[in-house]
Amino acid sequence: MSTLEIRDLHAQVIPTDENAGPKEILKGVNLTIKSGETHAIMGPNGSGKSTLSYTIAGHPRYHVTQGEVLLDGVNILDMDVDERARAGMFVAMQYPTEIPGVSMANFLRTAATAVRGEAPKLRTWINEVKTEQENLLIDKSFSERSVNDGFSGGEKKRHEVLQLGLLKPKFAIMDETDSGLDVDALRVVSDGINRYQQDNDGGILMITHYKRILTYVNPQFVHVFADGKIVKSGGAELADELEANGYDQFLN
Ligand SMILES: Nc1ncnc2c1ncn2[C@@H]1O[C@H](COP(=O)(O)OP(=O)(O)O)[C@@H](O)[C@H]1O
Ligand SMILES: [Mg+2]
Repeated sequence: MSTLEIRDLHAQVIPTDENAGPKEILKGVNLTIKSGETHAIMGPNGSGKSTLSYTIAGHPRYHVTQGEVLLDGVNILDMDVDERARAGMFVAMQYPTEIPGVSMANFLRTAATAVRGEAPKLRTWINEVKTEQENLLIDKSFSERSVNDGFSGGEKKRHEVLQLGLLKPKFAIMDETDSGLDVDALRVVSDGINRYQQDNDGGILMITHYKRILTYVNPQFVHVFADGKIVKSGGAELADELEANGYDQFLN
């Protein structure tokens, strides 16, 4: 049993525009997730949801100014990006990075080697990848393509879930993994997330602004995110209320 505890997290983004100064986006996020739990964060565009996932992932453009993120009591914010992954963190980005020139097969094997601490045995590895590809309805030809290069939105999202299945983290943060998916792809991706959780007793944080995926990946806890922090928490019924009444009630 593991615990991920986000405590009073404040973070700034360093804008791409060099003339603009740092901008405070996260304004005191508090959230505790345990193994086997599914939490959903829902909130309007621009409220800082992706900033939360980037900050936890360790993206260099995001600076923590206060607070900590404890994985079983150890502050992962002190770790390098790869150490965070080895410690059991996984973050599926809203916009997965394209890496021209690096094949998906190479990328996955390198990631698995880094996280597991040794290269997976070739024979079992090939079967592992094949099984995950089949589960996610990914054609095997994708192995030879450059990572996310020219992939459709849905293909990128399915490959995020493929990584989840192979890397088996303790905690997974899925940022808008549902966006741009049709109903069939949504089901395939959701089944993959649920399978990961059942097989690994994983803790999941689903970030979304639509209730749709939450009918497939059922959260026990729903949190409303507005202006850089959680402003309300409840059970699954809160997602219905948000769908019906929108986020305006939480905005100034
Ligand atoms: N590189 C950047 N430069 C300037 N502002 C940024 C940058 N990245 C994010 N922001 C701002 O941070 C705020 C939060 O963005 P984000 O975390 O992506 O929100 P959400 O995921 O909830 O839609 C937005 O106002 C956005 O414009
Ligand atoms: Mg976002």
